Amino acid sequence: MLITALTQKIEWLANQSRLFYPMVALYYKNMIKREVKLAELKPGDNVLCIGGGPCPYTAIMLHQLTGASVTVVDNNEECVQQSADLIRRMGLEDAIRIVCGEGEEMDCAGFTVIHLALQVSPKGKVLKNLLARAGNGVKILVRLPKELMNGLYCPLESCPLPCCKCIKHSFFTNVGNTALYIKGGAVW
Ligand SMILES: C[S@@+](CC[C@H](N)C(=O)[O-])C[C@H]1O[C@@H](n2cnc3c(N)ncnc32)[C@H](O)[C@@H]1O
Repeated sequence: MLITALTQKIEWLANQSRLFYPMVALYYKNMIKREVKLAELKPGDNVLCIGGGPCPYTAIMLHQLTGASVTVVDNNEECVQQSADLIRRMGLEDAIRIVCGEGEEMDCAGFTVIHLALQVSPKGKVLKNLLARAGNGVKILVRLPKELMNGLYCPLESCPLPCCKCIKHSFFTNVGNTALYIKGGAVW
């Protein structure tokens, strides 16, 4: 998708520049703080981020805000190499692991929280795989676009689980909401 390629380019620049990195980080910071609250993330959580790109801000900030360990999976080999290099430069390799693979094939047993980036595609297939393999009680956070931006991203036509809770993001991001699904959980 065009938007994914564009985001990867911007994040590649952020990966390469100490000046640009904190500027792009501003786009994510409050969004990720809200997501931490929504999923009640704790230091003992084992988080899987699907779609990290060349600069895995979500994984980095989730770890920095909570102390949780994070695994990032991306299906673009170049992105995986670039982000693994950034994680090494930041000295975070003990806390953040980067792997190459498809979200729709990932073995997600053992993760307590799973996060889907806005650009993940196909979202329905990825969710189906997660729900089949993840343990009961796993929390799944899914970023969804603003209505106006729907055409730019892969849609989530239906989800086999009811949404538990949802948080709205600011005007200045393409992400409209992050939805929380809990396998085997109650609906709020
Ligand atoms: C550009 S990034 C944006 C994520 C952002 N850096 C973050 O921290 O939230 C989105 C990435 O998702 C990856 N992606 C999309 N669909 C995927 C899938 N089904 N499995 C694995 N990775 C996927 C793309 O390769 C892309 O690099």
